[in-house]
Amino acid sequence: MARVLAIGNQKGGVGKTTTALSLGSALQRLSQRVLIMDLDPHANASIHMAFFPENSRGTAYDLFLEEKHDPGVWDRIIVRHEDTGLDFVPGHIRLSELEVDTRDRPNKGLILKEALKDLDERYDYVLLDCPPHVGVLLVNALVASDLLIIPVQTDFLALHGLRLIFDTIRTINRVMPKGVRFKVLPTMYDRRAGACRRVLNIIRRKLKGHMFNTIINTDTKFREASAKGKVIYDIDPNTRGAVEYSLLAKELMQP
Ligand SMILES: Nc1ncnc2c1ncn2[C@@H]1O[C@H](COP(=O)(O)OP(=O)(O)OP(=O)(O)O)[C@@H](O)[C@H]1O
Ligand SMILES: [Mg+2]
Repeated sequence: MARVLAIGNQKGGVGKTTTALSLGSALQRLSQRVLIMDLDPHANASIHMAFFPENSRGTAYDLFLEEKHDPGVWDRIIVRHEDTGLDFVPGHIRLSELEVDTRDRPNKGLILKEALKDLDERYDYVLLDCPPHVGVLLVNALVASDLLIIPVQTDFLALHGLRLIFDTIRTINRVMPKGVRFKVLPTMYDRRAGACRRVLNIIRRKLKGHMFNTIINTDTKFREASAKGKVIYDIDPNTRGAVEYSLLAKELMQP
């Protein structure tokens, strides 16, 4: 079975989508078979990769909508990104309606976990780009995941977002026997800024074992990649951000 990595934080704009796409590419460059799923109704990751939901044969929404699960749904919703060869499941604005669509459905938090079993040995890693709010999608992602990666922008407001996600983890842990494993990834770090250094020290102190060794610094190439519909490795594989996501991939792959 694939290792499932949810990338979530209730705070917006902290680097979730950037992490899903860059880490996915980094793992693929290390010969791992990778699937990236866009679980955000805003479909930022899909648009970044130039998969426009309106042109897609299927999206993540189809998977959550089925009354009776059909393993064939994966073949309809997985698309291959031409430039990178990455497999990808696009998001869709209708994912925001799932709260209502699944209101009366039993075990609605298990939909994704159950469906992922069909993929069997097809991938080494499945990365889930989560929306910045609590709801049926985030719960499905956390329940399905082996590890929750929490990107945290190294500024003071970010600490508030951390508190929110811990509340969610606590709620889910009450119903999940094995609990949610998580690790924080500092992003958009600028070591010249005193505020960044102070926040990093606070996170280190508070989280100890729950933090990656790798830190992602600020790199303007990320915005350039997103504007061009590419991943950072296609802009410049030697730029700082690309190197750091490769280090993160290696850190994850360590036994
Ligand atoms: N390390 C970085 N250095 C510089 N810019 C970055 C970095 N990481 C992400 N960005 C930029 O910051 C912006 C927000 O990043 P991203 O979309 O990944 O955040 P997000 O958490 O997915 O946001 P949302 O909550 O809206 O889904 C994007 O323009 C992205 O290009
Ligand atoms: Mg995003």
